[in-house]
Amino acid sequence: MMKLDKLLTTARELDAGDPLGHFRNRFLEADGVVSYLDGNSLGRPLRATAEHLQGFVRGQWGGRLIRGWDEQWLELPERLGDELGAVALGAAAGQCIVADSTTVLLYKLGRAAVAARPGRSEIVLDADNFPTDRYVMEGIAQECGLTLRWVAADYDGGVTPEAVAAAVGPQTALAVFSHVAYRSGFLADAAAVTAVVHDAGGLVLWDLCHSAGVVPAELDAWGVDYAVGCSYKYLNGGPGAPAWAYVAHRHQEDFAQPIQGWLGSSDPFGMAQGYVPAPGIRRLVSGTPPVLGMLPIQDMVSLLAEAGLDAVRAKSVALTEYALTAVEALLVPRGVVVASPRPAERRGSHITIDHPSFKP
Ligand SMILES: Cc1ncc(COP(=O)(O)O)c(C=O)c1O
Repeated sequence: MMKLDKLLTTARELDAGDPLGHFRNRFLEADGVVSYLDGNSLGRPLRATAEHLQGFVRGQWGGRLIRGWDEQWLELPERLGDELGAVALGAAAGQCIVADSTTVLLYKLGRAAVAARPGRSEIVLDADNFPTDRYVMEGIAQECGLTLRWVAADYDGGVTPEAVAAAVGPQTALAVFSHVAYRSGFLADAAAVTAVVHDAGGLVLWDLCHSAGVVPAELDAWGVDYAVGCSYKYLNGGPGAPAWAYVAHRHQEDFAQPIQGWLGSSDPFGMAQGYVPAPGIRRLVSGTPPVLGMLPIQDMVSLLAEAGLDAVRAKSVALTEYALTAVEALLVPRGVVVASPRPAERRGSHITIDHPSFKP
């Protein structure tokens, strides 16, 4: 009881001093939900989004009809990609695009990356990577006659530069890792890991599903080749919202798009014979952009710009720190173990706890 009282007092003090506390009423309330602990799976909708979607249907879609494509919808994938890149990803303009799903973008980027390293026979990835990342790379390996080389990761940890150094070599075409591990919450040293893969002559594809919008990223400064992420977690894009991809400027001209579609071609309305890719990041697009699905992401990117990603990260660390204190006080004595890194600088925005009787 004492422990619980102390935890409650601490929580109230933290809430009272929370510089981001006033953002709470920007989000829609959910019936009976006092505290939502699943933002790492599906983020909450913003009030602004409810109005935005309704306004869009009546105003832009209903009012402008097909004129909307030329007026603003066609360029939305690049425009929103640039905004997201600037606010959350450390990416200069012209390198991010919003499209497809993470799974589809993993395929596009992975397939183009191995094509950019002909003669190399391996894709390196970690055994605890998210299933879709592993399955897509399995498929690419089968398609291209490559082998998968697995990096072992600790149950409560993730991919370290040392473990990657032991796995990469002259045979490495591509390495695929998650910035924040979906299970343990381990935050990888993306700059160091990228450098290790580059030293071996390989390319790196980072999955930022669990960090975009909550852990600041510096894709340009880290020298990243390719990155993907979803938008329905910390970017509050909503169920099935489109994903985003990053391709560094230096890889764009030779990027071999494996799903060549008309809206990523150089002249979509020319309806000509033969595919000629659009210049720059636009060639990542295959078909018609998911305009409705991009509206909520616009709202969240604006909110992140207002709040500042460093402030969001500081609050996220405070929340996971508090949760760990509570778990250690209340649950560890009952046999629960913390399956996430303890140091905040190696942790993303979620923590994992485990017990033999928990459902896997
Ligand atoms: C790390 C990671 N990659 C990929 C995905 C899923 O990809 P998709 O949005 O295509 O379902 C998830 C979903 O939670 C994920 O956590």
